[in-house]
Amino acid sequence: MTGRIFSGVQPTHGLHLGNYLGAIRNWVTLQDEYDCIYCIVDLHALTQMQDPEAMRANTREVAAALLAAGIDPARSILFVQSNVQAHTELCWFFNCVTPMGWLNRMTQFKEKAGKNRENAPVGLFDYPVLQAADILAYKATHVPVGEDQKQHLELSRDIAGAFNRKFADGFFPLPEPLILGEATRVMSLRDGTKKMSKSDPSDMSRLNLTDGPDAIALKLQKAKSDSIDGLSLDAEQRPEATNLLTIYAALAERPVADVAAAHAGTQFSSFKRQLADLAVERLGAMAAEMRRLLADPGQIDAVLADGAERARAVTEPIMDEVRERIGFLTPRCG
Ligand code: TRP
Repeated sequence: MTGRIFSGVQPTHGLHLGNYLGAIRNWVTLQDEYDCIYCIVDLHALTQMQDPEAMRANTREVAAALLAAGIDPARSILFVQSNVQAHTELCWFFNCVTPMGWLNRMTQFKEKAGKNRENAPVGLFDYPVLQAADILAYKATHVPVGEDQKQHLELSRDIAGAFNRKFADGFFPLPEPLILGEATRVMSLRDGTKKMSKSDPSDMSRLNLTDGPDAIALKLQKAKSDSIDGLSLDAEQRPEATNLLTIYAALAERPVADVAAAHAGTQFSSFKRQLADLAVERLGAMAAEMRRLLADPGQIDAVLADGAERARAVTEPIMDEVRERIGFLTPRCG
């Protein structure tokens, strides 16, 4: 093993192909090379208040998706953030070494708070400090991140540095971003210029990870096309053709240029049928497993409980040392 990975995902409803190809699939692959810790970040989700029943259901839904996709709880740790106290505790310690100015620069806060900053919850402002605590409570060395989280990871490195300088030279590693090849950007099936999104009112715009073969085939058959003969890559002029080729290439694990060249003369209708067959082959078993798990929440909860226990076992010695270095009197001091 070359290092320790930590990554987090919010408990949200309606995971789709974009989430799978953009992130989840990479998490699965990383298990072969790293010691991996994957966290469902419900404390982060609380910064945008959710209904309690939805919080519970969404937490299980994301766990089911990760397990069905191939996160292996025998090799990796999969757990829920709020089940491990170290996250909130280390967040507080980090709050005390992080200047407000660093957080004022975070673009995600500015976007999420919008114009009404005075009413934004403090937790939303503090979100990236909690993220630093997530990573460093495990002394993780690598964090797979998308473009939108680069600034937060940079801040995690700064916070680790600030804590180290004040209390513990070299104690926390500076976590490195892990950028995995070309991220697959999956666009809406109804509009090739918009990202595939759970918030699109049309369910026909996305392939949900729980969709069965009929839904997959129907959605691809009805996917928007254009009136040009054959398929080609042209993000500007032919966003829909480009999106379908991109999805095909990602599922087939082939370079998109090769797929495009092979289908330069294929009609949309025929290509969509081939894509549907491929999608059912690559995603069908995962969808079925996810539906099976969702019908058996007891199994999901047992996996998460075991994950939390193993996560605590990693954080406890680290947190003991952190408290001692800060100078807190602990029972261990004797
Ligand atoms: N903020 C991340 C996101 O929205 C989720 C997250 C929370 C995370 N803690 C993390 C990602 C730690 C990587 C490492 O995608």
